[in-house]
Amino acid sequence: MFIELKNIIKTFGQGDSKTTAVNNVSFNIDQGEVVVLLGPSGSGKTTLLNIIGGIEIADSGSIKVADHQVDKMTDKNAVEYRREHLGYIFQSYNLIPNLTVRENIEIGAYLAKKPLNIDELIDDLGLTKHANKLPMYLSGGQQQRTAIGRAVAKNPDLLLCDEPTGALDSQTSKEILVLLEKVNKKYGTTILMVTHNELISQMASRVIRLKDGEIVLDQPNENIVAAEALELWETHFIRELKGSLYQILGNTWLSLYFSSLYVA
Ligand SMILES: Nc1ncnc2c1ncn2[C@@H]1O[C@H](COP(=O)(O)OP(=O)(O)OP(=O)(O)O)[C@@H](O)[C@H]1O
Ligand SMILES: [Mg+2]
Repeated sequence: MFIELKNIIKTFGQGDSKTTAVNNVSFNIDQGEVVVLLGPSGSGKTTLLNIIGGIEIADSGSIKVADHQVDKMTDKNAVEYRREHLGYIFQSYNLIPNLTVRENIEIGAYLAKKPLNIDELIDDLGLTKHANKLPMYLSGGQQQRTAIGRAVAKNPDLLLCDEPTGALDSQTSKEILVLLEKVNKKYGTTILMVTHNELISQMASRVIRLKDGEIVLDQPNENIVAAEALELWETHFIRELKGSLYQILGNTWLSLYFSSLYVA
């Protein structure tokens, strides 16, 4: 087992303002899997990702990634663990503004034990033409591709992605997902991807669904759809439809209905 989470609990605040962000979560992920973590806003997805990434410390429970007992690590060990094993892709690209695309990607490989060939990676990312540009001159999709490059340059064993397509249109989202699929296939990178988008779960080998910090579903996907074949336009369509219905009806049962479908 590559990732092993047992009874993870994480609360924030105290007294009346106490929130249980992650409530007794356990699951296992094998090496090379693409796991999609779904759930409505506030269900604990980012908190869980941060706990696995050693950024946030759980109140209780155990977490093992490769040979590392993440819940018992010192700060120094946590830094080494992240450097050696993890790539992290954020929704807001977090690129360094005064470094070029190439330099942003090179930073990811800094101090790595087995970095990828940067030229080949930039080519795979479709960024060869943009390698010497600063992030401010890139589109959202190009910025996210640079961020993926930075995260995978060290050739991590595990790629944690928090809403990697959250800020992108459906066509650009698909390009990003095709790229993540390529990273998984080419380098065997295990991917744990958080999303609101139900349709993205079709490309996963396993789908985990969270609600109020608890797992409500953990299921292998028998019919994996290639990222290229995902029909993400549907989200667009549903979004448009929702917008129109809200304008006409504008009441809360509608939002409850849509959130129950996980398309909110
Ligand atoms: N640092 C914090 N301090 C206090 N509460 C927090 C903190 N981080 C998260 N929370 C709370 O924990 C719960 C889970 O938050 P989390 O960010 O993990 O949700 P999420 O599923 O990632 O949501 P979204 O889809 O909106 O990103 C929320 O109720 C949130 O308000
Ligand atoms: Mg989040």
